[in-house]
Amino acid sequence: MLFSSSHYSCILTFVVVFALSLSTISLAADCSRAFYSEVQNLIGKIGRCKKLASGAEFGWNYTNQTRQLKVLIGARVEAETGWLAWGLNPGPEPQMVGTRALILIKTANGSLLCGKYNVTASVKLGCTPLLPSDIDLNVTSPNCSVLGKIGYYTIQASINLPMIYNVSRLNHVWQTGDAADGAEPKMHHTSLRNFDSAEAFDLNTGKVASFVMEKRQQMRLAHGIFNIVGWGTFLPAGVIAARYFKSFPFAGRHWFPFHVGCQIIGYSLGVVGWGLGLWLGHVSKYYTFRTHRITAIFIFTFATLQMLALRLKPEKRDEYRKHWNKYHHFLGYALLVVIAYNIFKGISVLRQEEKAWRSGYAVVIAVLVSIFLGCEVYTWIRFCCLRKKGDKIPKNNEKDQDDKGLIPTGVGSSTHRQNPPSS
Ligand code: HEM
Ligand code: HEM
Ligand SMILES: *[C@@H]1O[C@H](CO)[C@@H](O)[C@H](O)[C@H]1NC(C)=O
Ligand SMILES: *[C@@H]1O[C@H](CO)[C@@H](O)[C@H](O)[C@H]1NC(C)=O
Ligand SMILES: *[C@@H]1O[C@H](CO)[C@@H](O)[C@H](O)[C@H]1NC(C)=O
Repeated sequence: MLFSSSHYSCILTFVVVFALSLSTISLAADCSRAFYSEVQNLIGKIGRCKKLASGAEFGWNYTNQTRQLKVLIGARVEAETGWLAWGLNPGPEPQMVGTRALILIKTANGSLLCGKYNVTASVKLGCTPLLPSDIDLNVTSPNCSVLGKIGYYTIQASINLPMIYNVSRLNHVWQTGDAADGAEPKMHHTSLRNFDSAEAFDLNTGKVASFVMEKRQQMRLAHGIFNIVGWGTFLPAGVIAARYFKSFPFAGRHWFPFHVGCQIIGYSLGVVGWGLGLWLGHVSKYYTFRTHRITAIFIFTFATLQMLALRLKPEKRDEYRKHWNKYHHFLGYALLVVIAYNIFKGISVLRQEEKAWRSGYAVVIAVLVSIFLGCEVYTWIRFCCLRKKGDKIPKNNEKDQDDKGLIPTGVGSSTHRQNPPSS
């Protein structure tokens, strides 16, 4: 016999302790350690805990038999007067309107107020102030306090969950704001992080019930990348190819397939990114980013026009061709500017990983702009030198390309053969 029974029980104890500590770690890992220990102190050893999308932390303990829900919500409130809200929404969706909320208010004199509020549609419209009132939710001992160690403001409460709340799909909503006037919390910010602060989750497992919320994160990432690469990188690269490598100052032999390739790839990737944006806008039906959306529709419309123009442009000998070229080029440059604007606009919506996105795109812009400026300066130097020497400026090689039925779009076509390209 290798092991005696005492060995067995020793090993068994070890395994059990190990498994228990693993499970504690994996539970605790969903929250910061300090907050998790607070959850265990305040709402019991079997309390569960998770981080919420916008940086708040949430602990709860649910007893199925009595339908008693104990919660502890914690978040930073950085402003001098500010507020933290948490509540339940009995409606079909997790959203602001209809929420029965508990709100902690940090007042100017340093004291904390703790109240119950009905968040109605007219509050969202700004028609009525949000003031304390009775709510049809049986909340006992709501308690607001500060966790000095981690600088969190917390609301603790115990709720008898009415039957209309579905415990496997409970809509809860939270929010923080930077301003309050007495017991009245003022409007919060309107960044993505403020809009992500509602979800439906299962009280027994802690899992987020909506499939959409998880997909949304991945789609946002894809949306940003497709748009930056498509609209933000390939399209401008194609324009640079057409402007500087057509004939002057560089007579690149392969500029034309390169240009068309860039525009087609850029446009296709961009359209995919745009479609993802529309999907994102569609699933987040309680809010919109208006400027970003309108600008995006503008970009799609005019970029499509530019692409169609390739087929519809006037004949080469047509006298309208001159004007057409001007229009096509002007629209092209205007689009590039609007695209850059909307990319920054999209990035500013994010708030959380904003810095990384912004510096990533800044690198792309810096490279494109320096190529652009380099070519521009070089063009003018060449132009001036050639004129001094009285040389002829090399002819555009557009002709042989165009006769093949292909379709150049860049600057430097027949209109200004004797001039450096100008927009
Ligand atoms: C020119 C490029 C872009 C276009 C054409 C575009 C297009 C769109 C469209 C149509 C929407 C839906 C708006 C709504 O209905 O509310 C949207 C939403 C959004 N876009 Fe963009 N976008 C672009 C660039 C970016 C970039 C670079 C980022 C960030 C890295 C970004 C981040 C977002 C976010 C976070 C949303 C909201 C997602 C949500 O509602 O959950 N966008 N975009
Ligand atoms: C103090 C008064 C408040 C005002 C004036 C207000 C106003 C607004 C507005 C105008 C929007 C939509 C913005 C857009 O679509 O562009 C919004 C969204 C939102 N608010 Fe408030 N809000 C207030 C308080 C609260 C409170 C106390 C909570 C949490 C209990 C909250 C949670 C949310 C959430 C989760 C959204 C995302 C969209 C939605 O679910 O409808 N708000 N708020
Ligand atoms: C919770 O209690 C209800 C009845 O009170 C019962 O039908 C249900 O199966 C219980 N759920 C769990 C997960 O224990
Ligand atoms: C509660 O939500 C679950 C999961 O979404 C669903 O299957 C169930 O039908 C809902 N129950 C009630 C009473 O609405
Ligand atoms: C602090 O201000 C709130 C309202 O703004 C008031 O209700 C409370 O009594 C004040 N507390 C002290 C200690 O002055």
